[in-house]
Amino acid sequence: MTTPAEIQFKDVDLEAVAGAAGKVVVFVGDDSKLDAGARKVNTLTRKALARFVESAAFEKMAAGDVAPLGYPVGMAAVAVVVVKLGRKPSCADARKAGAQLAKIQNGDDLLILAGSIARAEEISLGLALRGYTFETHKTAPAKTAGTVTFMVSKPEAVAKAAAPLAAVAEGVFFTRDLTNEPANVLTTDDFAARLAAMQELGLEVEILEEEDLAKLGMRTLLSVGQGSDSPSKVVVMSWNGGGKEAPFAFVGKGVVFDTGGISLKQPGGMEEMTMDMGGAGVVAGVMRTLALRKAKANVVGIVGLVENMPSGNATRPGDVVKSMKGDTIEIINTDAEGRLVLADVLWYAQERFKPVGMINLATLTGAIMVALGHENAGMFSNSDDLSTSIAKAAAAEGEGVWRMPLGAGYDAELKSRIADMKNVGGRMGGAVIAAQFLQRFVKPDVPWAHLDIAGTASVKKETTLAPAGATGWGVMALNRLIADNYEKG
Ligand code: BES
Ligand code: MN
Ligand code: ZN
Repeated sequence: MTTPAEIQFKDVDLEAVAGAAGKVVVFVGDDSKLDAGARKVNTLTRKALARFVESAAFEKMAAGDVAPLGYPVGMAAVAVVVVKLGRKPSCADARKAGAQLAKIQNGDDLLILAGSIARAEEISLGLALRGYTFETHKTAPAKTAGTVTFMVSKPEAVAKAAAPLAAVAEGVFFTRDLTNEPANVLTTDDFAARLAAMQELGLEVEILEEEDLAKLGMRTLLSVGQGSDSPSKVVVMSWNGGGKEAPFAFVGKGVVFDTGGISLKQPGGMEEMTMDMGGAGVVAGVMRTLALRKAKANVVGIVGLVENMPSGNATRPGDVVKSMKGDTIEIINTDAEGRLVLADVLWYAQERFKPVGMINLATLTGAIMVALGHENAGMFSNSDDLSTSIAKAAAAEGEGVWRMPLGAGYDAELKSRIADMKNVGGRMGGAVIAAQFLQRFVKPDVPWAHLDIAGTASVKKETTLAPAGATGWGVMALNRLIADNYEKG
């Protein structure tokens, strides 16, 4: 597994600055005032720092931007890195600053003279998150990672604030690794094994195999995986950090590869369907974070792991299958498979756990990308309260989410001539129709939200906190949702 950089928080020792190797980082705000660390660097460099801070180049920098001054006179460092950041930065600016430092670190050691700047722990989170690289399949040895040391005026307090954020970074890395992994590596067996390994963290992990699923009546889920040589599975991860109360439930679509099945996809871009387990990846990452920071809440994460392949045994268009709930579904398009997986897992989650609330995550539709691009995940919900809480948590973490409608008119698209419903409607409003399908498997009294993350789970261009590829979108928002709404004091 890719692990975040280890970050140290130490007492300020300005005597160590002149001889520090690697890159020495100082913070200067809009007011151009130099703090003790910056003054030390300014003295050592014979006022080169002050010259830079008075320049037009510094003035043009936005909050969180960084500028390296190479081979400074009077210091052993290869560069002094000036970060434009005030004494009390916003969370977003602090994370951005950290991310920019990760981008220019380039294998060198970083000595970060943070002094008494607020939110140093958020700077460290940004640094950890943007430091992610997926190099599992590169044969060339990776550059040795440099060390990261913050010098702060209250190291114990900052380290304490940084600990739960390190758990967040680990959860996000776990999700990114899963989502980036190719499908010949991340098979359903391999995925389940990686989840089972989280038992070490105190999570309860239960793996339901095909015969268990057949006994439970999860025929729609099994119908998706039956064309593949990889066995379908459902994995239940439980974190019992609360009292006796019913858990909150996260449910994830884990299609390890989506060829479309007999309704085969076009070849162009099909390789991107290795990320079609992104919903399950987020659920796994959130559970990891909750366990690592020992959240005081009961949360269950359930993922349906299948591979959607064409074969002599694959589901055909026109087949009718009966869901665990009992409703029959005419499968018009075998490429609309995610909803078939989720239908049974959502039903199982409610029957077994009677959750106080339930959120499913899925790379469900291309249509949500047409609607929202890569900036926002689509949120569909039967509860104003739950969707407001999700939107608040996502905003606080800088993860975009946008509520979409549900309604009887959309649901009518799912009418089938021969079964209780069909698995697709018209092309227009496809993301909403998919959500309507899911809602048919949600009990009306269960607060529920569906997050369609097809556009946000993996992206072609780097973002503030992630390189191109898997983003881990949602781990931070859902971790916060639990912290802010379902944890006891
Ligand atoms: N996994 C896809 C959705 C998807 C598309 C995710 C692009 C990420 C990027 C899903 O299973 C799918 O194939 N959906 C179809 C539904 C259609 C057949 C109703 C789609 O969106 O085209
Ligand atoms: Mn599909
Ligand atoms: Zn899919």
